[in-house]
Amino acid sequence: IKLLSVASEIYPLVKTGGLADVVGALPAALAPHGVEARSLVPGYPAVMARIGKGRRVHRYPDLFGTPAAILSAQADGLDLLVLDAPGIFARDGGLYGDAAGQDWSDNALRFAALSRAGADIAEGALKGWQPDIVHAHDWQAAMTAAYMRFGPAARVPRVVTIHNLAFQGRFPASLFPRLGLPPEAWGMDGVEYYGGIGFLKAGLVSADAITTVSPTYAREIRSPAEGMGLEGLLNGRADRLHGILNGIDGDIWNPATDDLLARRYSARALGGRAANRRALETRFGLDHDDAPIFIIVSRLTWQKGMDLMAGAVDRLVAGGGKLALLGSGDHALESAFLAARGRHPGRVGVEIGYDEPLSHLLQAGGDAILIPSRFEPCGLTQLYALRYGCVPVVARVGGLADTVIDANEAAVGAGVATGLLFAAGDAGALDAAIARTVQLHADRSLWQAMQRAGMRCDFSWSNSAARYAALYRALIAEPA
Ligand code: ADP
Ligand code: GLC
Repeated sequence: IKLLSVASEIYPLVKTGGLADVVGALPAALAPHGVEARSLVPGYPAVMARIGKGRRVHRYPDLFGTPAAILSAQADGLDLLVLDAPGIFARDGGLYGDAAGQDWSDNALRFAALSRAGADIAEGALKGWQPDIVHAHDWQAAMTAAYMRFGPAARVPRVVTIHNLAFQGRFPASLFPRLGLPPEAWGMDGVEYYGGIGFLKAGLVSADAITTVSPTYAREIRSPAEGMGLEGLLNGRADRLHGILNGIDGDIWNPATDDLLARRYSARALGGRAANRRALETRFGLDHDDAPIFIIVSRLTWQKGMDLMAGAVDRLVAGGGKLALLGSGDHALESAFLAARGRHPGRVGVEIGYDEPLSHLLQAGGDAILIPSRFEPCGLTQLYALRYGCVPVVARVGGLADTVIDANEAAVGAGVATGLLFAAGDAGALDAAIARTVQLHADRSLWQAMQRAGMRCDFSWSNSAARYAALYRALIAEPA
């Protein structure tokens, strides 16, 4: 099967979150299932720098007002197709906005261009390579499905994956004439969404299959509480909606081989964690003692429950815990955590920023990771934590609920508990979970049993990649 993947991020070239990890890992995971994937991504400066010159395989004199080309290149084991369009992608700042956090004003056209290129490839724009199926990720790529449906590639099946329903790509209706879609693409069954344009919505109505990144999130988004306005559409297409859990890249996230650690270790030799714990304490200015270290590696946002977390820090410290936090996001939350560090020298360490290597040390040296998300489509940091023997303490939502086994009496008795679960969006429940963690941590043998049970879990890509491959095959076999 020849697969075209379309996405706005790909690890290790460009990443703002879990989307990049997934898009970067899937191609290799799919290969053993007979799927040969090529990944179309925007030619951001970081991507252009990494691929060198590339080979030009398609040229646009004018793509939504800017000259562009599609380059073919290999980098980091990925077979890339890069949309080289300096007018829209060659700029300093973030992928989606400027350094101050303001969205780029031309985001609609930037990602319409990416999607248009995806549809053109599906329609045969590249000499000698045409995909059998197209897989678009999130709103930035979702329009690929709409362009395909309203163009000559309508017979090529298309999958759209929702990584996060909170980001929908909504724009004013006045943009419609610039998108280059036929008039019939306007309307309820097309790109129109509550009077404006919805890129994700357009993709979801145009897809042959919709997937999201955990079974629980697939159910949650069909309810008014979690559907973010799209629950009606998703219920109407429930027979086409699948929850496929994300995996993790076990080569990048493996404590037995990880170069980024102070010391490598395995489930059999957990003692090796001590050196990482010490390095973490030093790096974050924490006291060297046996008090449990809670870690956080997260975007600092409302989705992640970081407002609740900021409110819980004083009680975490009073209850005997230490905290090491790495994150960036809302400025008010960044300030709140920095202030907490100021109040609790030696007990709270905070690094504001994005630091991939440091995130590995946190997972290897922390005792427990806190993830108090209000909603979580899948979540990857709890999966990395499980692999690293860092016990996840997580809200009972989405993919968190699907991947962590709560240390209730039954699970502890059976020796299968891997973490702690608590009610989402509830400050009292978060406090109680933190207190329960401190208690469990004091029981050394029970704690180690939990660490080992977590490390035995298999969240590699093998199962999920097989499910994607089966879905692709089923769609290709469907009568047009
Ligand atoms: P989301 O995509 O919603 O942010 P995920 O848990 O799926 O949540 O993925 C987040 C990814 O980003 C993980 O790989 C995590 O380790 C990484 N990450 C988040 N914040 C930081 C940070 N400040 N520094 C380094 N890595 C981070
Ligand atoms: C989104 C979600 C996160 C998920 C990631 C990868 O960023 O917020 O839960 O793990 O996508 O699918």
